[in-house]
Amino acid sequence: MVASSTFLLGGAVLGAANALSVANALSVPGPSTIRRDSEIDWSSCGDMNSQYSIGDKLNISCGYYEVPLDWADESVGTAKLAVAIYPATKQRWGTMFGNPGGPGGSGIEYVLGYGPNISVMTGGHYDVVSWDPRGVGHTTPGPPSCFDSGADYSDYFDGTLEFTGLEIRGNLTDGNQIQEFYSHVGEMERKYKGLGKRCAKADSGKYLPYLGSAAGARDMVSLAEYFDPGVQEINYWGVSYGSMLGFIFVNMFPDRVGHVILDDPILYANKPTTQYFADDVEATDEAFAGFATGCAMAGKGSCKLVQSNNDTGADITKLVQDLFDLAHELLEAGADMSETLTSAQARQYLYSAMYTPSQWSKLDDFIYAYAQSLEALAANITDTSGKRELAHAKRDSSAPTYELQAIYCGDGVDAGNMTMRDGFDAIVYASENVSPMFGPQWGVQGNLCFAWPARAVERYTGPWNKKLKNPILVIGNTADPVTPFQNAKLMADTSGYPLA
Ligand SMILES: *[C@@H]1O[C@H](CO)[C@@H](O)[C@H](O)[C@H]1NC(C)=O
Ligand SMILES: *[C@@H]1O[C@H](CO)[C@@H](O)[C@H](O)[C@H]1NC(C)=O
Ligand SMILES: *[C@@H]1O[C@H](CO)[C@@H](O)[C@H](O)[C@H]1NC(C)=O
Ligand SMILES: *[C@@H]1O[C@H](CO)[C@@H](O)[C@H](O)[C@H]1NC(C)=O
Ligand SMILES: *[C@@H]1O[C@H](CO)[C@@H](O)[C@H](O)[C@H]1NC(C)=O
Ligand SMILES: *[C@@H]1O[C@H](CO)[C@@H](O)[C@H](O)[C@H]1NC(C)=O
Repeated sequence: MVASSTFLLGGAVLGAANALSVANALSVPGPSTIRRDSEIDWSSCGDMNSQYSIGDKLNISCGYYEVPLDWADESVGTAKLAVAIYPATKQRWGTMFGNPGGPGGSGIEYVLGYGPNISVMTGGHYDVVSWDPRGVGHTTPGPPSCFDSGADYSDYFDGTLEFTGLEIRGNLTDGNQIQEFYSHVGEMERKYKGLGKRCAKADSGKYLPYLGSAAGARDMVSLAEYFDPGVQEINYWGVSYGSMLGFIFVNMFPDRVGHVILDDPILYANKPTTQYFADDVEATDEAFAGFATGCAMAGKGSCKLVQSNNDTGADITKLVQDLFDLAHELLEAGADMSETLTSAQARQYLYSAMYTPSQWSKLDDFIYAYAQSLEALAANITDTSGKRELAHAKRDSSAPTYELQAIYCGDGVDAGNMTMRDGFDAIVYASENVSPMFGPQWGVQGNLCFAWPARAVERYTGPWNKKLKNPILVIGNTADPVTPFQNAKLMADTSGYPLA
């Protein structure tokens, strides 16, 4: 199987960024031994970023480590990985590498935030080490950008789904609403193709083919040569996307597998990236039901959303769905929503709140305040004659960076196998069949890969069941709102190890 070497975007063949080498495109064996490439000049993490000087108190140090941009072609130049270490607190047995997920999460911030905790959880005998992957944080090449400024970004997407989100009443099962949604396919296809061209032309564009998880796995193996020269086995603990990176590492380097822990991965390497959204939200409504049930059980006085002590989780869920509907009606009626959240924004907010159950005890305050803001607006609307277009006020946001898309799409199957319409289909399918509450949202990570201007020069797409030097530990929990248990099970089943 060979990757197409040209991506047609709006009829034009892109230049530098998609100059994929056909021979390299899919899982080349690559350099068989990975050497240690450079020294690390350790210093205060505050030298990297003043906000990181908290590392001094924690005995965490930072530095840079050089690796080839392209592991199969040294002539391309080098990448400089930002690395952080929290040293073992007991007799040192080796290194425990980690990755916090995303893709696009910073390994430096992970060590600063959780290094001591990971050290305790792994017995204190390992140096806890992580790094900003290519395209992330303080590594060079850093986060890809596609717009010159926030204003440039706002102008480009003004009035589109990118800013309005998916505005609906109820769930996305109503034929007219679905039809209205599909009426945006052409516009979003043009916008994302244009985005792809901008990303390719930007200064960061020429580095896009060198971002991705296969290179990330090689970078870790090279780092291991620095930390534990001559030691065959590499220890690694990956969470979320970090499990995908780990799954790629163990299958690319089966004889280098030491103590490895993986959890529910965000799986995306084999099918077109548009096909993963339904998996991602498999358990999100269940997670929300957990919040709603907890709220109902806490009772009146403890959870602000409880109206009577015999309220059930279903009553709380209905209350929230009614709020979405009210917000939608207010927007349609022309209310000024600039000081509150539209239903699309509120849905997105609650989706991200599902990631952190430890904060759920404060979520009722947020929803209660939201209800009050909507009621105040509703009370004020006497004249609803002035219906206005749904595209509401332009956002004054800063320009986003695209590290997540660069890695996710860079690892993904070829652009030609996906369309914008597939992305719309994924949202409608997930809304109708998997997650009525959180399926209807714009911004699904795999949906712009059809227009992403590059794929990684090396991608690992299997096999996934290599015989490993040591068994890996796979862990997963139910009602995980973003990386469901079934993904952990799938990974364990695929690799042939029983699920712990
Ligand atoms: C800090 O880390 C170094 C190893 O880099 C170690 O020798 C030292 O004991 C550590 N200090 C504290 C206070 O833990
Ligand atoms: C991390 O460790 C600190 C200090 O021991 C502790 O207070 C905190 O609860 C831990 N955090 C997690 C997420 O375990
Ligand atoms: C979607 O909304 C309709 C109308 O309110 C309702 O009958 C249906 O049960 C909902 N579907 C799901 C899956 O919640
Ligand atoms: C719920 O409790 C209220 C009083 O708090 C009572 O009026 C109502 O009948 C109860 N409803 C059910 C279904 O038990
Ligand atoms: C109600 O409408 C008036 C006039 O449009 C406006 O000045 C006021 O801020 C509004 N109040 C709220 C709570 O939106
Ligand atoms: C992608 O498309 C090519 C032909 O254009 C096909 O050979 C390949 O199997 C497709 N890959 C996937 C994962 O669908």
